[in-house]
Amino acid sequence: MELFRRLLQYSKPYWWRIVISLVATLGVSGLNGAIAFLIKPVLEKMFVQKDLKIFLFLPLGVIGIYLVKGVCRFTADYFIATAGQLAIQDIREGFYRKNMTLSMRFFNNNPTGALMARVLSDVSVMQEGVANIVTGLLRDGFSVIGLLGVIFYRNWQLALVSLVVIPLTVFPARKIGKRIKRLSSESLGMIGDISRILQETFSGIKVVKAFGLEGREVEKFVNCNKEFYRITRKTIKYGALSSPIMEVISSLGIASVIWFGGSMVMKGKMTSADIISFMAAMVMLYNPIKGLIGTYNAIQRSFGAAERVFEILDEEPDIKDGPDSMAMGRAQGILDFDRVSFCYNEEMVLKDVSLSVRKGEVVAFVGPSGGGKTTLVSLIPRFYDVTSGSVLIDGIDIRKLKLKSLMEQIAMVDQETFLFNDTIANNIRYGKPDATLEEVYAAAQAAFAHDFITEMPAGYETCIGDRGVRLSGGQRQRICIARAILKDAPVLILDEATSALDTESEQMVQKALKNLMANRTTLVIAHRLSTIFHADKIIVIDRGEIVQSGAHAELLEQGGLYKKLYEMQFA
Ligand SMILES: Nc1ncnc2c1ncn2[C@@H]1O[C@H](COP(=O)(O)OP(=O)(O)O)[C@@H](O)[C@H]1O
Ligand SMILES: [Mg+2]
Repeated sequence: MELFRRLLQYSKPYWWRIVISLVATLGVSGLNGAIAFLIKPVLEKMFVQKDLKIFLFLPLGVIGIYLVKGVCRFTADYFIATAGQLAIQDIREGFYRKNMTLSMRFFNNNPTGALMARVLSDVSVMQEGVANIVTGLLRDGFSVIGLLGVIFYRNWQLALVSLVVIPLTVFPARKIGKRIKRLSSESLGMIGDISRILQETFSGIKVVKAFGLEGREVEKFVNCNKEFYRITRKTIKYGALSSPIMEVISSLGIASVIWFGGSMVMKGKMTSADIISFMAAMVMLYNPIKGLIGTYNAIQRSFGAAERVFEILDEEPDIKDGPDSMAMGRAQGILDFDRVSFCYNEEMVLKDVSLSVRKGEVVAFVGPSGGGKTTLVSLIPRFYDVTSGSVLIDGIDIRKLKLKSLMEQIAMVDQETFLFNDTIANNIRYGKPDATLEEVYAAAQAAFAHDFITEMPAGYETCIGDRGVRLSGGQRQRICIARAILKDAPVLILDEATSALDTESEQMVQKALKNLMANRTTLVIAHRLSTIFHADKIIVIDRGEIVQSGAHAELLEQGGLYKKLYEMQFA
C-alpha cells in the first residue's frame, strides 16, 4: 500500500491528464455496458415485435457507437500513457539527480553497470505499473462495474449465483502476484549483473584482449544470460498460469448460471432474451476481468522494480550541505590536517596524520604504494569524510563549507585522465563553462598542449572519441592539466599526474605543471622522485602514517625510508 501511494504521488502533477483519461474511460465502459444492455430490446424488436425497421437504423447505430467508443478509447489511452511517461520521466530524473549527490563511497559499493541498469530497466519496468494502475485498474474496473450493473438489472439472483466464485479467485491471484513481484526484482538484479559485465568488458576490452580471455568473459556473460532466462521463464509461467486458473474458476460461475438460468427460463421466470442479454454481459465481463488480472500482475512486477528504485531514492547522501554550511570566496590556500584518521571499511588507512601546508607551498608526498597518499588528498575535496580529526582550509573545517564553495577551491589532476566525449575546447573549459576561446588557448599554451591541438584536423573543435582514445597518454594528460589551469583554483592536487608519460613528454608536462603550480598551494604525489626535488616540503607516508618530512637534502641526510627510495631509483 505504501509503495502504491508513493507511485501514485508521482502521477499527481499530471492529474488533469488522468482526469481526461478517466472521463474518456467512463465513456468506453458506459458504451460497453450500453451495448450489452441494448441487446435485449433490439432482439425483442426483431424477433418478438417483428419490427424490421430496426434493420435500417441498427447498422448506423453500430457504426456510431463504435465511432464514439473509438474516440473515447484513443483519448483514454493517449492521456493516461503520457501521464505515465511524464511520471516516469520525473522518477528517472530524480533517480539521476540523487545519484549525482551520492558520495564516492556509494559508487565504490555499486558497480557502474548495475547503476546504469537501474536508471534504464528498473525505471522502465516501474513505468508499466504507473501507467497500468490508472488505465488498467480504472478502465477495466469501470467496465466490470458497468457490466455487473447490467447482469444485476437483468436478474439479481442469477447475478449473485454467478459471483459466488469470486472469493475463490482471490487466493491464487494473490499468491501469483507475490511470486511475480519477487521474480521481477530478481530479474532486474540479473539485468544489473548483465549490464555490469557489459560495462566492465567493454571499457576493459584492451585488458580482456591482451590476456586472450574473450572466451572466459563470454562464458560469464552466457551464465548470467541463462540465469536471466531461468528467472524470466518463471515469470512467464506465473503470468501464463494466471489466466487459465481464473478461467477454470470462472467456468464454475458460468456453469451455475446455465444451470440456474436454464431452470428459470423453463419455469417461465425469465425470457430467453433476458438470459441471452445476461449471458452476453457475462461473456463481455470476461475481457475486463482478464485485463484486471493482467494489470494486477503488471503492478506486482512494477512494485518489484519500484522497491529497487526507491531503495536508491531513499539513500541518504553521507556527504552533503548542512543547514548552516558556509559559502566561501576564493581561499588563500592554507591547508591543515589535524590528527586525521580514516578507514574505508574496518582497517585504518590513515592514522593520526597531522600536517600544515602554507599558502603557495609545494608539498610532495612519496612512499610505497598502498601507503595512503591518494586517500589523504582525496579527503580535501571530501570524496570521503575523515573518520576522526579534521581537515581545514584557511582555518575552516571543510565540513562547515558548502560543497560547491569547497570544490571551487580545488583543481585536481590524477592518473586517470578522464576526458568527455566532446570537443577538446569543451573538455578544457569543463571547470569553467563560460571561458572564452582566448582563455582556453592560454590554458592550453600553459599546458604545452596548444601545438598538438592546432595540428589536429579540427583544432580545438576536434571531438575526442570515447574516453579520449584518439589521443596519446601524454596529450590527454596535458589536456587535463589545461583544464586544471583554466579552473584557476587556489589549491592544486596532482596525484601521479605524470606517471603515465615517457621521459620526453614528462619533461613537457613538468614544465606545464610548473606553470600550473605558480601562485597556488600544490600537493603533489609522485613516484618519480626526480620530479619533486624542488618541493618546499616532502612528506614520506608509509602504512598510513607520516614517517618523515622535510626538504630533499634534509631527508637524504636523515636516512630512513626516503633515502632507501632514493637509492632504489638512482642506484
Ligand atoms: N575505495 C577504497 N575502498 C577500500 N579500500 C581502499 C580504497 N582505496 C584505497 N584503499 C586502500 O587504502 C590503502 C591506501 O590506498 P591509497 O591511498 O590508494 O595508497 P597510495 O595512493 O599511497 O598508493 C590501501 O591499502 C588500499 O587498499
Ligand atoms: Mg595513489
